[in-house]
Amino acid sequence: MAEVTLDLRDVPKSAAYTTLETQIDSVLEGIDDPIAGMATISALVHHGFGHLWTGFYRVVYPGRLLRVGPYQGTLGCLDIEFGRGVCGTAAADQKTVIVADVHQFPGHITCDARSQSEIVVPVFNASRQLIAVFDIDSDRKNAFGADDQRGLEQLMLWFGQTR
Ligand code: SME
Repeated sequence: MAEVTLDLRDVPKSAAYTTLETQIDSVLEGIDDPIAGMATISALVHHGFGHLWTGFYRVVYPGRLLRVGPYQGTLGCLDIEFGRGVCGTAAADQKTVIVADVHQFPGHITCDARSQSEIVVPVFNASRQLIAVFDIDSDRKNAFGADDQRGLEQLMLWFGQTR
């Protein structure tokens, strides 16, 4: 495999997400294993942008419980109920949640005290069922905006359609 982990920190966000999607598509060519997909996406997004924590929480009991999946970063909590924290809120509402300052988000679950801001994007399969959420934490406040939401929702749409 000739692919390398790209550093995209100096690339404008929309171009960075396009590059990432092309690279992930190429790395995963011919592989439709969702765990391999989640692991590859987590690694490339995490190191591409230098995030604090990047990974998936999978729906294990629809409407009730998320459980940690492939991720990069320090130890993540294992189970999150729908409606709890940022991940549980995104899962319950089936919508992207951006939190500029996690200390202002009621019920935020602290896995790493360095976390300052967060984005969580729902992941749907081809039948529009929620199968996971993709969670990214930053050690900077206000690290995520509309360009991240667009890029990550597009990436999760691409990923979910092939599941
Ligand atoms: N901060 C998350 C919990 C997961 S960790 O960040 C890995 C939340 O409140 O949903």
